[in-house]
Amino acid sequence: MPDVSPDIDLIRSRLLAWYDAHARSLPWRAAVGAPRTEPYRVWLSEVMLQQTTVPHATPYFHAFTTRWPTVSDLAAAEDAEVMGAWAGLGYYARARNLLACARAVAGEHGGVFPDTEAALLALPGVGAYTAAAVASIAFDRAANVVDGNVERVMARLFAVETPVPAARPELKRLASLFVTDERPGDWAQALMDLGATVCRPKSPSCGTCSVASECLGLATGDPARFPMKTKKADRPHRRGAAYVLIDDQGRVAVETRPEKGLLGGMLGLPTSDWATGEPIAAAPVEADWREAGAVEHVFTHFSLTLTVMTARVDADGDYRWMPIEAARAALPTVFAKALDRASVPDLFG
Ligand code: ADE
Repeated sequence: MPDVSPDIDLIRSRLLAWYDAHARSLPWRAAVGAPRTEPYRVWLSEVMLQQTTVPHATPYFHAFTTRWPTVSDLAAAEDAEVMGAWAGLGYYARARNLLACARAVAGEHGGVFPDTEAALLALPGVGAYTAAAVASIAFDRAANVVDGNVERVMARLFAVETPVPAARPELKRLASLFVTDERPGDWAQALMDLGATVCRPKSPSCGTCSVASECLGLATGDPARFPMKTKKADRPHRRGAAYVLIDDQGRVAVETRPEKGLLGGMLGLPTSDWATGEPIAAAPVEADWREAGAVEHVFTHFSLTLTVMTARVDADGDYRWMPIEAARAALPTVFAKALDRASVPDLFG
């Protein structure tokens, strides 16, 4: 790192002023100067945003808060309802953690979120990021909220040459230099907005950045190369088959996936093994199978080509049979894609 250091106080005051003028209007965010958002809504939005973008999370946030307006409402929901409503957001372990946390808040804290970072961290499924985000945004506690956006901003401001993930502790330490008791919630969100709208991953708009004069990354002439990355091994690719079985009433066969493992506890279509994938040989029942093409899906740890096999059969007791539209709405994205691919009306043609 170069010898000169960015001016911490100057960066804080400039970024907070920029936030006052340019904060994004988000459904879970209080306007500048307005009363703080309820902890439930802050927590829910932060859990959703850990895995997806603001535009993708927004309809889910509205759906959840309409259906379950308080944490106690969510705590009282059936597991399957919540898992179904989460479908499409990915990382289903989070939906299970979400429910576990809601139930702990309802059952052990009288439906009121605890208001310190340490007590939030003790809730099931609440990690360092969520505890810090909720403590700062919902309770205005000084907390160091560090996500990928904040890491990127720090790596650029300080021109950190160490690649991530090794640089993470250093980036967290640098972020902590800015945390004070003054407007902690606004500070956390100002950094998030800067990362999302100005200090973007690929094409930062340094010309509009209120702290450009303090940015050592910009001074190198190539700020976008920060944070440095170690080359990632390619994701492995797997193949398999999904089976779209339609009964004589036009319903589709679904099953609840095992609790442990990928998409655990979620609704699924019957599938073959995804490592090897011998689609027809592995078909779950004897039927006049037709191949309807394939769909691609990318999971965190592997990518998948799923051949979609379709057949009409008589309903049997081994599966749950669901109307197509209901199944389409409740299935995780990979299976919804497979169902779309199966072009069910053709099976009845
Ligand atoms: N990304 C994650 N949390 C966020 C928040 N509270 N505001 C904006 N972007 C975010």
